[in-house]
Formats: sequence, structure tokens, C-alpha cells
Amino acid sequence: MNIVVIGAQWGDEGKGKIVDFLAEDADLVVRFSGGANAGHTIVNEGVTYKLHLIPSGIVYPDKKVVLGSGMVIDPEALFKELQIIEDQGIAWQQRVLISDRAHIVMPEYKKIDKEMDKKRRNPIGTTGRGIGVTYSMKANRDGIRIGDISNEAFLDTLRQDEKQFLAPYIEKLRAMSVNITYLMELYKEKKVLFEGAQGILLDLDVGTYPFVSSGYSASAGAALGGGIGPTDIDKVFGVFKAYSTRVGNGPFPSEFKTERDGNLEDIIREIGREYGVTTGRPRRCGYLDLVALKYACLTNSITSLVMTHIDVYDEMDEISVCVAYDINGKETIEFPSTTYELDRAKPVLKRFKGWKTVLSSIKDYDALPEPAKNYIEFIEDYTGTPVGIVSVGYERKETMMRIPLWKK
Ligand code: IMP
Repeated sequence: MNIVVIGAQWGDEGKGKIVDFLAEDADLVVRFSGGANAGHTIVNEGVTYKLHLIPSGIVYPDKKVVLGSGMVIDPEALFKELQIIEDQGIAWQQRVLISDRAHIVMPEYKKIDKEMDKKRRNPIGTTGRGIGVTYSMKANRDGIRIGDISNEAFLDTLRQDEKQFLAPYIEKLRAMSVNITYLMELYKEKKVLFEGAQGILLDLDVGTYPFVSSGYSASAGAALGGGIGPTDIDKVFGVFKAYSTRVGNGPFPSEFKTERDGNLEDIIREIGREYGVTTGRPRRCGYLDLVALKYACLTNSITSLVMTHIDVYDEMDEISVCVAYDINGKETIEFPSTTYELDRAKPVLKRFKGWKTVLSSIKDYDALPEPAKNYIEFIEDYTGTPVGIVSVGYERKETMMRIPLWKK
């Protein structure tokens, strides 16, 4: 059985924690997109793990994880990350596999990424990890793949500095590389989790283009980047926060505004620890945007939503949520496709009573205070999608399941 976990907003929804939670019963975890631009935080028994390239299942001692074909991999960042988790007591050898079709991020791509962003008509505020440049090289059919570098004839086509950079990694990467199609065939009857990166609003096709990343964050990306076909996907879990955040530039209709919302952004940023795991940048914060969330459900066949960070609202008297956009005086519940419209969209807000209760110790959905349940059930009605999992804290155990997981 194949379950895909994606971010349903602009990334940083808590996918790492959710994949870690779900991985307990999985046989394999496959990451299908992105690169070291991602930052997945996992907290277990008080220990914090910060992952950028390695799928979240690595924290379990018996799980194998795969870096899929849709990923772009910086070898330097990969082995640095493996060293850090090894120092934290994780034995990763023989447990980390890499698709031989995944592309390699070369050092100059990172430089070009930063320079290009400054020169863009609309600078995106990229993470500077060479992501867009590597995907461009891929689309331009001039990229360097994991499987290519074991081939002497291919290496001969590279420049001296490129060969020098790759030399220390060739053997190590060869030992980890796998033809993912046939690996997935072996796991056909097993439980496989596909972990997305970023969020669907940063997806190259369905996101807020051009303010997007260059990989496929949408669930469809699991099919190409994870070594399976589209009808092999059984369930899609869309992870979203009880509010919204965005890192970098680009439209954000429900963003908090001081004139309207006072210092709500500072409050949410501090309680929710909304600083980038990869770049340390403060995240922009805003109301939960249900127009965008419903769009995420429609474009990704989300079978179940997963709500995180609801506990960040524990102290609030009142909570608002965006239920429509006002664009030039016209109300709409459709998510527009252009920056022009999104930049003009003002959120139409609906207010909910706060619950004024600490949620992190609650283990069971039925035991949640009524106002919290009202908030969740309104989201379900609006999006037409059940909220199957609710996370009330950073720890693995602070998670409530409302649906059977590995059942078709
Ligand atoms: P890039 O992926 O480095 O090219 O950056 C493109 C845009 O995506 C920028 O606005 C980044 O801030 C954003 N971005 C990339 N990865 C993440 C992520 O994992 N979480 C949140 N934003 C991200």
C-alpha cells in the first residue's frame, strides 16, 4: 500500500513530524522531490533531528529510506547531514538508498542560484541551495545524475573542477544507488510512505508561479519521483497548519497585517517557532486560508487532511480563518492562477471562539474542547475532506489518529 504525504500550504507544515509518526508501521520511506532547500524537524524523547535531504523514517533503527528520482542531491550536504545524524546515534549505513536517476547539485549551481535570483524580474528569495539551477539543467538535458558518475566515459565529459568535486563521493554514492523502479516492485505488497518536500503552493505547476520552487511538491510528483505509477497511489495525506506561513517572496493573501491584526504575526511566530530550519529566516505568518486549502485538496486528490500546530492557538480568545478572497471588490472562493490577482486578494475572514485550553496533553479527538472541534469540523465541511490526524505538539506522541491508516 502506498501513502503519499505532502505539504498542503507553502511548506513547513510539519510533514517531517507526521512522516516520522506514520513511519512506525511503514516498511519503506521514499522522498520524491526537492533537495537541501527543505527542512524537516523531528522531535522524539526530547531529541531534535533536523533533516534536509534524508527522509524522515531514518530515525527508526530498522527502516530503510530512499532518496527518489525527483530529488536534487548535493553530495556535500548529504554526507554532512549523515555525519550529524550519526553523531546523534543513528546508524544509517545500508539503510539509505538513492535513485540512480536523481540529479546532483554541483557547487557552481549554488552560486548561479544566488546570482540569478538577484537578477530576476521578480526575485523569489530562494534558499540558495542550487535547486532551480539543478532542475533547469535536468530539463535542459544537461544534468549530472547519480547513476552517471560511476561511468568513466561520462566522467571524461566533465570539467576538471567538476571531477575533483565528485571524486570523494563517487564510491560512496555508487554503494547507495538503486534502480528505484525494481526496488518499488519488491515493495508492491508492503507499506510504503512517500514523503513530499515544500508544499503544493510551491509546486512548479500548481503553485503560485513564479514564486515557487522547481520540483514537484504535489502528490502527482510521487508517481514520477518515487518510482511508481499514478494508479499505485492509495492515499494522499495533505498536511496543513492551523494558520499559514510562507518563507521568501510571493503572494500570501491571508498574511497578517499590522493595521488589521496588530502584533498577531509576532505572537504566532514566537509560539509556533516560525523560523526556517534551512535558512533561519523568520517566516511570514497569516490566517489559515481555506480557499488555498480547498485548492490543495482539489489539485492533489487529498484523501485526508492532517492538521498541525493547532496548539499554537491555545491562548487565543478568538481565531479567524480566511473563507473567500475579495479581489477588486468581487468575492471569490476560487484560488487565482496569477500573481496579479493573488496580490490584490484581501481575505474575507470568519471568526471562531478560542478554546483557552492546553491541547498538548489531550490524547483523543473526542476529548478536545468544543471550540477546537468546531474549528476542525468547519475546515472539513469547507474543503469536503476529512481531517484524519490532528497534531497538538512537536513530540511524536502528541498526535491523534481519527482514521485507520494502512487499510484501503
Ligand atoms: P528554492 O527552492 O531554493 O528555489 O526557493 C524557492 C522558494 O521556495 C523560496 O521562496 C523559498 O523560500 C521556498 N522554499 C523552498 N524550500 C522550502 C521549504 O522547505 N519550506 C518553505 N519554503 C521553501
